[in-house]
Amino acid sequence: MNVSVLANTLIGSEIIKIGNEVNEMKRKGAKIANLTIGDFDPSIFPIPVELKEEIVTAYNQGHTNYPPADGILPLRETIVDVLADRYQLTYATSDILVAGGSRPLIYATYLALVDPGDKVIYPAPSWNNNHYCHLSSANGVAVETTVENNFMPTAAQLKPHLKGATLLALCSPLNPTGTMFTKAQLEEICDIVIEENKSRGADEKPLYIMYDQIYSLLTFGKEHVNPVSLRPELKDYTIYIDGISKCLASTGVRVGWAFGPEKIVSKMKALLGHIGAWAPKAEQVAVAKYFADKGQVDNFLASFKTQVQASLDELYNGFQQLKTEGFAVDAVVPMGAIYLTLKIDYIGKTTPEGDLLKNSADVNFYLIKEAQSALVPFSAFGNDENMPWFRASIGGCSLQDIKDMLPRIKTALSKLK
Ligand SMILES: Cc1ncc(COP(=O)(O)O)c(C=O)c1O
Repeated sequence: MNVSVLANTLIGSEIIKIGNEVNEMKRKGAKIANLTIGDFDPSIFPIPVELKEEIVTAYNQGHTNYPPADGILPLRETIVDVLADRYQLTYATSDILVAGGSRPLIYATYLALVDPGDKVIYPAPSWNNNHYCHLSSANGVAVETTVENNFMPTAAQLKPHLKGATLLALCSPLNPTGTMFTKAQLEEICDIVIEENKSRGADEKPLYIMYDQIYSLLTFGKEHVNPVSLRPELKDYTIYIDGISKCLASTGVRVGWAFGPEKIVSKMKALLGHIGAWAPKAEQVAVAKYFADKGQVDNFLASFKTQVQASLDELYNGFQQLKTEGFAVDAVVPMGAIYLTLKIDYIGKTTPEGDLLKNSADVNFYLIKEAQSALVPFSAFGNDENMPWFRASIGGCSLQDIKDMLPRIKTALSKLK
């Protein structure tokens, strides 16, 4: 292969692979409940009307040239206010970096902090950290979590891996589980990071936390917690990832932001400047105005979250009902984001055609074919292929789609021996 080793060894997103398979079946006429991609069907979950109008207005006003490399000042000012108001976090506009969605900012965090071979710790399941480790030639250490802690990592699980690590990648509410840190869980993790950094010499790189809180406004009655609010001394060591993709159902609008110590954020800005991963200027102008109106944002969030939660609850209750009927399934109570964690414990069973379901991918494809219902196995999030847990993402389906899907899953599971 006459391409780079990096290009040659890249692993494509497994989620997109399953999603493509589903789309191909749909193209051939199959009607499938697609609970794969962490995206929204705009006909079911449209972006806020006022945001759409602001975007159109900004284009009409001619905001079509390069934005500043760190994002337009009015947007960074709005973000400063939002951080103070919603999270009681004090940051300056120079601590904030805007980009074309949050992905480039995650990549920039890795690039700014991680040297080839550096240890990066992340929980499994979690979203895409394995890929960012590969892109930055990091030594990724996936720490397996358990259902007893809602698949959130604990201090006890992480502690043995902290020595010599450069980055701890955390996310709450977590993709793929839809679960969240409790205050006590995150406090304990903060304390072991502080302890680890105290043990390092002045010439050593400290241990940083990347805290992805892109789903923090999509919670269902649970309090979102974050490292610096809990332990202010972590401010020098924490890089936050956030943006509008999920909380405003705006995955295609492409506005995200990171914030953290200026000396790191300025390096991230320099890296992304070369890549050119700015958010489009008109979208930045629109988000600056839209997000500054708290009442408007809260109104949208109230109805959006009600709609998201109705779908998650329907699915959760449907699986609990199947469980009481004796099916080998389970579900974890949804706390935030757009995901539900489902257990479908049918690895090792045989289909009516005599095919053995050898792993979670086999179970998934059986359900796609037999129940026209597509999920993503946790193996796509760093877990073993024998793990019987799956992510259901509700953004691409209506409530009715979910209602219709549950009896199909029941029938398909009943056929397995
Ligand atoms: C935890 C998490 N962070 C970041 C992203 C990426 O967001 P964006 O679309 O803003 O790049 C996603 C998308 O699925 C996500 O789940």
